Amino acid sequence: MKNLQKHRLAVFASGSGSNAENIARYFDGREDVKVVLFLSNKKNAYVLERGKKLRIASHAFEKTDMEEGRILQLLQENQVNFIVLAGYLQKIPPEIIQAYPDKIVNIHPALLPKFGGKGMYGERVHEAVIQAGEKESGITIHYVNEHYDRGNIIFQASCPVLASDTPSELALRVHELEYLHYPRIIDKLLKE
Ligand code: GRF
Repeated sequence: MKNLQKHRLAVFASGSGSNAENIARYFDGREDVKVVLFLSNKKNAYVLERGKKLRIASHAFEKTDMEEGRILQLLQENQVNFIVLAGYLQKIPPEIIQAYPDKIVNIHPALLPKFGGKGMYGERVHEAVIQAGEKESGITIHYVNEHYDRGNIIFQASCPVLASDTPSELALRVHELEYLHYPRIIDKLLKE
């Protein structure tokens, strides 16, 4: 039987999953790293379609699956040892955080500690950045702990906010940074 990969990743996403796909494609063909699961708390999330096309086991789950330990069990059955959140809009319960100390990362589409916290997701973040008259925005990759967007920061990259920007224009610029850096930073963390 073929040896299991050293690093087995699960990606949690609640929406489109373009980051999830980008990460899976980045590691495609690597012997040491494999994205083994796409998990979503939304049964109609497009990330699940992307997962099927990429032949990655993709599952939607209910809140109770998380609360009653079935997601932790699924992660363990699949021998997942690193978790990536990419546009995942629910809190990760303490049991999972404790089972994966410093092995869960998230990406936030702004420069934390500004524009983070509960309710700060998607377009709302970009709206708030523009509203505040910021000249710069960007991405923050950070460890996940029990508080929204407050785990230790691993990496940040910035981009300009133009006076003419709409939230969707800014989102596009921020997404480009995400695609460029998120897989690369995950790769680096796996090697540490
Ligand atoms: C990304 O901007 C990410 O930073 C944020 O949610 C968005 C998800 O986009 N947390 P996608 O689903 O990867 O396309």
